[in-house]
Amino acid sequence: MEVIIAKDRAELAEVAAGIIREQILRKPNSVLGLATGSTPEETYARLVKYHKEEGLDFSKITTFNLDEYIGLPPSHDQSYHYFMADRLFKHVNVNPENVHVPMGMAPDPAAFCEWYEDEMEKAGGVDLQLLGIGGDGHIAFNEPGSSLASRTRVKTLTEQTIKDNADLFFGKGQEHLVPKFAITMGVGTILEAKKLLLIAYGKRKAGIVKKFVEGPVTSQVTASALQLHPDSIVVIDNEAAAELEHKDYYKWVYSQKGELQKVLDRLAGN
Ligand code: PGA
Repeated sequence: MEVIIAKDRAELAEVAAGIIREQILRKPNSVLGLATGSTPEETYARLVKYHKEEGLDFSKITTFNLDEYIGLPPSHDQSYHYFMADRLFKHVNVNPENVHVPMGMAPDPAAFCEWYEDEMEKAGGVDLQLLGIGGDGHIAFNEPGSSLASRTRVKTLTEQTIKDNADLFFGKGQEHLVPKFAITMGVGTILEAKKLLLIAYGKRKAGIVKKFVEGPVTSQVTASALQLHPDSIVVIDNEAAAELEHKDYYKWVYSQKGELQKVLDRLAGN
C-alpha cells in the first residue's frame, strides 16, 4: 500500500485527480470505479477543469459507481445519480450509455446486483477504483462486519453513517430523511479492480485512517482490505495522517520516488 501525505485538501485533490488523469491518458477506454461523498468533490472539480482546459477526453471511458440509496430516484437531489451528474458527468464528454450507477429504485435489487456485477465483468473489470472512507471504516457502504469476500448487494447502513450523511448532505438533525438501505459493491468486488485509490482528509478521519492503514485486516474496518490488494494508493492530508505511526517513513518513500530508477541506471552503466 502506497501512502501519500498531501499538505492539505487542495493538494490531496490535485494528487488524486492527477492519478485519474494519468490513467485516462494511458488508457483512453479505461473503466473507472467512482465514489460519492464530500471527499471526492474537489477531485471531480479538477477533472472537469482538465476536461475544459486541456481537453481530457472521457468519450471512451466507462464508469461504475460504488453505491446508491434504496428508494431514491435518480432525479432526487440527494441520490448518488444526481450527485455524479452534478459534480462530473454533465460537465465532461462521457457517453451516458457508458455510465453505471446502481439503481436505487430497482424492483428486484438482488437481480439488479447480479446484473451490475455482470456488466462490470463484460466491461473487462474496473481499471481504477476511487474510494472514500466512512467514519466507521467502510468503503462503499460495506459497514463493519461486511465479508471481505462480499459482492454487490443490499446493505443496512449503520446509525453513524446515517447521521454522518445527514450532517453532510441532508441537513443536521435530518436523519429521518436519509435512507437506511443501499445497494453497494462488495469488498470482494472492489478488490478485483486493478488499482485502488482511497482518499481521506481532515481530523475526523485521523483515527480510522490509523486503523485501516496500520491495524489488522478485519471485516470490522472494511477499508483494511486494501492491505490485501497488490496496487493500492492512499492519498490523505496531514490532518488525516496525524495518528499514523510510520508517517515519516511514508513521506520518505514519496520523497524518494524516482531515486530507484537512478540507482538502476547507474548499475546498468547508463
Ligand atoms: P465523506 O464520506 O467523503 O462524505 O466523508 C465517505 C464515505 O462515507 O465513504
